Amino acid sequence: MEESPQLKIGFIGAGNMAYGIAKGILRSGDVIASNVTVSAPSENNFPRFRAMGVAVTHSNEAVLRGSRLVFLAVKPHLISPVLSLLSEHVTPQHVIVSVAAGVTIATLEKLLPGGSCVMRLMPNLPCMLQEGALLLASGAGVKQEVASQLKSLLSPCGLVEVGPESWIDAHTGLSGSGVAFVYVFAEALAEGAVKMGMPSALAQRFAAQTILGAGYLLRDGEKHPAQLKAEVCTPGGTTIYGLHALEKGGIRAAAMGAVQAATERARELGDSKTV
Ligand SMILES: NC(=O)c1ccc[n+]([C@@H]2O[C@H](COP(=O)([O-])OP(=O)(O)OC[C@H]3O[C@@H](n4cnc5c(N)ncnc54)[C@H](OP(=O)(O)O)[C@@H]3O)[C@@H](O)[C@H]2O)c1
Repeated sequence: MEESPQLKIGFIGAGNMAYGIAKGILRSGDVIASNVTVSAPSENNFPRFRAMGVAVTHSNEAVLRGSRLVFLAVKPHLISPVLSLLSEHVTPQHVIVSVAAGVTIATLEKLLPGGSCVMRLMPNLPCMLQEGALLLASGAGVKQEVASQLKSLLSPCGLVEVGPESWIDAHTGLSGSGVAFVYVFAEALAEGAVKMGMPSALAQRFAAQTILGAGYLLRDGEKHPAQLKAEVCTPGGTTIYGLHALEKGGIRAAAMGAVQAATERARELGDSKTV
């Protein structure tokens, strides 16, 4: 692919994921907004793209024809109908990146001309704030340098890693669904404080800030979570008493089970996709 300032980028679908990724890519300053085009059937989502200087159109074909790198950002059940109308215009020069949950590279390759350069990207919701967790997997026809270039292009969206497609369902269970698991934990922490007399709104803000702060310490430090946890535990102090209560409640088994259940469900949904 061309270097970022010359690269023409398209998004088919103008929803939250397209917006989060486009915002991240533009944030780097390397990509020129007028080189980015987005398509969708309605005008509904266009204003926020126009506000970033991105071109908008109702024609998916125009996006494909005008772009080298094309993100497929429609709902999974629309991948097949959308590609059936576009496939004949896809060339070996295109790099097609699908963010559709559960739609495999093999399925995408079947829907596209032989030798197409196909990748899957699994982002999560905090992409919207450039704090996403993104896993990128490549089809057989993708050169290593294309994957590396895409990884660096996407890096302003959050943490981007390249890995085998077989990791995508676990990533969906951990980072996609995990966002909701963290919300449950935040709610429960706040309710604990409410039970002990703190006003609810304040408890919620402190719970969010505690999760954020702990997350930054974990992400940006070199330490294992067990080590960070040990540093907060004074012998005979408050934290070890609280941790004992968490362990009695089975928090580890619950969290591991949640990621496993979500991963298995992602696998099931992928298998059942009628594309
Ligand atoms: N949201 C997440 O947390 C998340 C995480 C990982 C992966 N994903 C994947 O990301 C994809 C998009 O999700 P989203 O949350 O961004 O969905 P969304 O907000 O509902 O956006 C879907 C977009 O597709 C457009 N669209 C509908 N039919 C179309 C067509 N025939 N041609 C072109 N565009 C069409 C819609 O147009 P209008 O603007 O006219 O309605 C809308 O802009 C999904 O496949 C999902 O699996 C989402």
